[in-house]
Amino acid sequence: MQTIDDLDVAGRRVLVRTDFNVPLETLADGTRHITDDGRIQAALPTIQALRDRGARVILVAHLGRPKDGPSSELSLAPVAARLSELLGTTVVLATDVSRDGAAHAVGAMHDGDVVLLENVRFDARETSKDPAVRGELARELAALADVFVSDGFGVVHREQASVTDVARLLPHAAGKLVLAEALVFSKVLTDPDRPYVVILGGSKVSDKLGVITNLLTKVDRLIVGGGMCFTFLAAMGYNVGSSLLEVDQIETVKGLIAQATELEVELILPVDLVVATAFSADAQHKIVAADKIQDGWMGLDIGPNSRLLFAERIADARTVVWNGPMGVFEMAPYAEGTRAVATAITQVNGLTVVGGGDSAAAVRLLGIDESGFSHISTGGGASLELLEGRVLPGLAVLEG
Ligand code: 3PG
Repeated sequence: MQTIDDLDVAGRRVLVRTDFNVPLETLADGTRHITDDGRIQAALPTIQALRDRGARVILVAHLGRPKDGPSSELSLAPVAARLSELLGTTVVLATDVSRDGAAHAVGAMHDGDVVLLENVRFDARETSKDPAVRGELARELAALADVFVSDGFGVVHREQASVTDVARLLPHAAGKLVLAEALVFSKVLTDPDRPYVVILGGSKVSDKLGVITNLLTKVDRLIVGGGMCFTFLAAMGYNVGSSLLEVDQIETVKGLIAQATELEVELILPVDLVVATAFSADAQHKIVAADKIQDGWMGLDIGPNSRLLFAERIADARTVVWNGPMGVFEMAPYAEGTRAVATAITQVNGLTVVGGGDSAAAVRLLGIDESGFSHISTGGGASLELLEGRVLPGLAVLEG
């Protein structure tokens, strides 16, 4: 993979695919506010390095999944404003994706300037399944620039015009973020230091089957919490009350448990849980042993003994990969399991990787010091697909 250091960028127009798909809330006065700018911060090193070398930086990104073309709700205007603050320079938002508005904004650039194109998914060609249709948009984007840099790690699992097709049309390189993410995942997938501990949570086991199948052959310990643990507990014959349960996955999970035993992978499940009468912070709740969940109660977090057990099995790890919260961390009574696991990971003396999406959000929401982790991925879906062992199109295209 070429890096930006391999590109001649001085005085040239550099199209950079970033992932600015950030969470937004609408305030009482109708303005939209970014609630977590982690993905914008993560793009700064590449943008700044290119500006320092005299490039004209044209950013292309998406926000959400617009269905009917442009809308003010999904405009990248709040991102342009935040970027301007962070870079200390005005970032111009082009009025469209690739046509007159984009050409006009790019035409007015000087060396070191930054332009953000409007939400690329406002143009339906971006996500078309037809390569010829995507190709048209890619050609328009390529015409705006001299070189292409891929730095939106969160979208490298997507075969989309601004991710893959445009890379085929211009000299290209990986940005600093994509490079850092790719190196970390390559290390944990091919050459992990041991003991190697993977911690999985989140609501659905069906979302993580590919990851479990791929990682079972590589890890020393697999810790399972979150909503998905109830399908494991059910597979072991326990009553799970009204907890989240994927009945159609019980047989598959039984197979995974047998495979773990065969591969001598230590499978660690909660020994106790915080159970509640309803999915609510105000519901009556208590702690019960994992094999004593009664009907009418649902598990919403791992319990105190599980926290101690998980922390103890994490402590001596040399490689940790964590994907998915241990409980409903957004509600205070069910946040302690996720907090305990995250804190235990920050104390590990080795490479610690937090998958994107909910786990990264939990770290920020719970106020855990991000510097305690070696790497917090910016890609939810992309990191999961890498852990599944898949070749991601947005990375493969950079190798060509
Ligand atoms: C993400 O939020 O994971 C990325 O920005 C990808 O978004 P998508 O799932 O809508 O393609």
